[in-house]
Amino acid sequence: MQQLTDPFGRRIEYVRLSVTDRCDLRCFYCLPKGFKDFEPPEHWLSFDEIERVIAAFARLGTRRVRITGGEPLVRKDLPALAARLGALPGIDDLSLSTNAVQLARHAVALREAGVRRLNVSLDTPDPERFREITGGRLEKVIDGLQAARDAGFSPIKINMVVMKGVNDDDVEAMVEFCIEHGYTLRFIETMPMGDTGREANARYLPLSVVRERLERRFDLVPGVMPGGGPARYLRVAGSELRLGFITPLSQHFCETCNRVRLSVDGTLYLCLGQDHRFELRPLLRAGVSDQALEAAIREAIALKPERHEFNDKPGQVARFMSMTGG
Ligand SMILES: C[S@@+](CC[C@H](N)C(=O)[O-])C[C@H]1O[C@@H](n2cnc3c(N)ncnc32)[C@H](O)[C@@H]1O
Ligand code: SF4
Repeated sequence: MQQLTDPFGRRIEYVRLSVTDRCDLRCFYCLPKGFKDFEPPEHWLSFDEIERVIAAFARLGTRRVRITGGEPLVRKDLPALAARLGALPGIDDLSLSTNAVQLARHAVALREAGVRRLNVSLDTPDPERFREITGGRLEKVIDGLQAARDAGFSPIKINMVVMKGVNDDDVEAMVEFCIEHGYTLRFIETMPMGDTGREANARYLPLSVVRERLERRFDLVPGVMPGGGPARYLRVAGSELRLGFITPLSQHFCETCNRVRLSVDGTLYLCLGQDHRFELRPLLRAGVSDQALEAAIREAIALKPERHEFNDKPGQVARFMSMTGG
């Protein structure tokens, strides 16, 4: 088996695949209201094109694919794409990140398609605050989560972006919500993307503060989570709840980064916090051979930068998270 290794010796074995840059919510920190500069449909990679690229990655040693967006469930027939990717030789871990608004309708089909793991974004358990942050209805997310559980997804991980003055006082309630329903909870630091970075910096809260706050109320003990990725895990004593802390800013984890991102228009982004990229769509549409596609992927991986520079140069990444899927 050939392996993909970047110039810093990191093995690349994980692709985050954004199947759309559109979304049925408008989380203010991700996709601001009124944003209209979406990719036109003729730029979207077709399911055949996506399958070709992922198959090439799989031949180069990629095992894991996470489907994301924008909101992946707004892409028509997503479970059919998931089934095609899950069936590719070599891909043994297919997962999905979703806001769960449309999950109730799709949970069973996704499970049948071979999606094993599910991450659901939820920043607050409060319906009114949820509407303020996202413009949507919490009820649908709760129904989606329930449907996912009924369909047999386990564990279900909830991702909460913690923002100062927005939802930092929701962390205890989120812990209780997740204990009650048996979800894993992961806290994420807000990243300065898409705007000048100044705004995001004002809301930035290091997760050490969240941990201290939770320790006043809960007994936190070291925990582990198989396949935990960049999260560091604790457990709430006396419960099954695992708490993950994803700290891209306060303790970045670039040295173990094993991933690249493919956006809906066929651009490979080599780092979430940098602009290094490689366009695959022109090659795909010019009838590139499998061998030349693999060579292009190798060429792209050679561009992967050592680390993000969110701390030193906030605001340098002009694209929104909805383009690359976080
Ligand atoms: C871009 S969304 C795409 C998938 C899906 N729509 C969802 O919300 O899970 C992926 C993750 O990125 C997070 N995200 C978006 N903008 C962010 C930012 N500026 N800083 C940190 N996380 C962000 C979201 O909260 C979500 O957990
Ligand atoms: S975080 Fe997810 S749900 Fe919220 S606007 Fe971005 S893509 Fe949509």
